[in-house]
Amino acid sequence: MGKDVIIACDFNSKEETLAFLDKFSGKKPYVKIGMELFYAEGPAIVQELKARGHQIFLDLKLHDIPNTVKKAMAVLSRLDVDMVNLHAAGTRAMMEGALEGVTRPDGSRPLVIAVTQLTSTSQERMAEELLISAPLDETVMHYAANAAQAGLDGVVCAPLEAGKVHQRCGGSFLTVTPGIRFADGEKGDQVRVTTPAQAKELGSDYIVVGRPITQAADPVAAYQRCVEEFVG
Ligand code: C5P
Repeated sequence: MGKDVIIACDFNSKEETLAFLDKFSGKKPYVKIGMELFYAEGPAIVQELKARGHQIFLDLKLHDIPNTVKKAMAVLSRLDVDMVNLHAAGTRAMMEGALEGVTRPDGSRPLVIAVTQLTSTSQERMAEELLISAPLDETVMHYAANAAQAGLDGVVCAPLEAGKVHQRCGGSFLTVTPGIRFADGEKGDQVRVTTPAQAKELGSDYIVVGRPITQAADPVAAYQRCVEEFVG
């Protein structure tokens, strides 16, 4: 399990998404479908990409009362995706409900990954607006531990946090890490960035890569470079 490159398909239409994936003739990269594409195209885009042979991380970051998340996850499990996620801030009861809901009648289920603190949340905003006074990295590790206790498979985190997460939650607890850039590439709005090779050294299990692949002059070559650096 693990060690794969997931392409963030941050597009707002089926046409754009398929035109992008058609460039990969024959290859079937693992793809992430987020809120933008899912809200634009609905479950049909998931079914279409699945039918084309892609593994899918459905990045909808659920966060609601346990019963609602459980029922929503039961519906998502029918889409036969490979990975789903939710906010650890929804509590262990919510995460346990999610696991129950997402488990299919045959006992199989997608990987369930928790978002801890969003990377867009600063220490200052967390303290002032959310009234959480603990250091940010401590809340990240605490939320990861809650996710592990609830039986989840891993967390989304920065590659620089992957080692600490593995120490705290065990080596098989997965770290799914965005914020990836090539050494010679544009950073965009990401602040703390890591190359695919560094992410591998730091122990990431999956890297999530968007613009360095989707906006590249040659997306297939950029994807291939990620795979070579990260998977080897
Ligand atoms: O284009 P880029 O490589 O920055 O895309 C990264 C992807 O990972 C985007 O879909 C973004 O929403 C997602 N993500 C992130 N940071 C997080 C969680 C998700 O960049 N903490």
